[in-house]
Amino acid sequence: MTRPRLGFDRALAGLLLISAALATTSLASARAEPDAAAKTRLTHLLVQDCGSCHGLTLQGGLGKPLLPETLADRSAEVLAEIILDGIPGTPMPPWRGLLSEAEARFLAETMKKGLTP
Ligand code: HEC
Repeated sequence: MTRPRLGFDRALAGLLLISAALATTSLASARAEPDAAAKTRLTHLLVQDCGSCHGLTLQGGLGKPLLPETLADRSAEVLAEIILDGIPGTPMPPWRGLLSEAEARFLAETMKKGLTP
């Protein structure tokens, strides 16, 4: 008997990979603003990993759209808290430990600006 699959396995595998990749830098730069290389890496994470649930263009999928217009009523601070704490009772996972506060803040600002220039 096969059960329906929603891509959780892939998302979880992704989480483990990011966890390994980010562990060092997150600890080293918990507060500092991400440098240019980190911003490139984080934007890649936003597309590939957040995008695995929210859609590769962040238009929504399993997770809600993460577009400037849908996020306009929330501040970057609030969005960074959502990213760090997740949304209990939903598949939205907490990223604290994988992302520093500054990194979550950068992702929130990137989502509010929009991915396309
Ligand atoms: C395993 C799937 C999954 C992954 C991976 C994921 N999310 Fe989510 N996310 C969700 C779901 C599902 C929701 C909607 C929860 C609900 O019902 O309120 C959500 C909600 C959100 C919200 C709130 C949106 C709103 O309009 O209220 C934000 C912000 C968010 N995610 C950002 C991110 C970011 C940034 C990442 C990557 C660092 C990420 N998510 C990775 C599943 C995921």
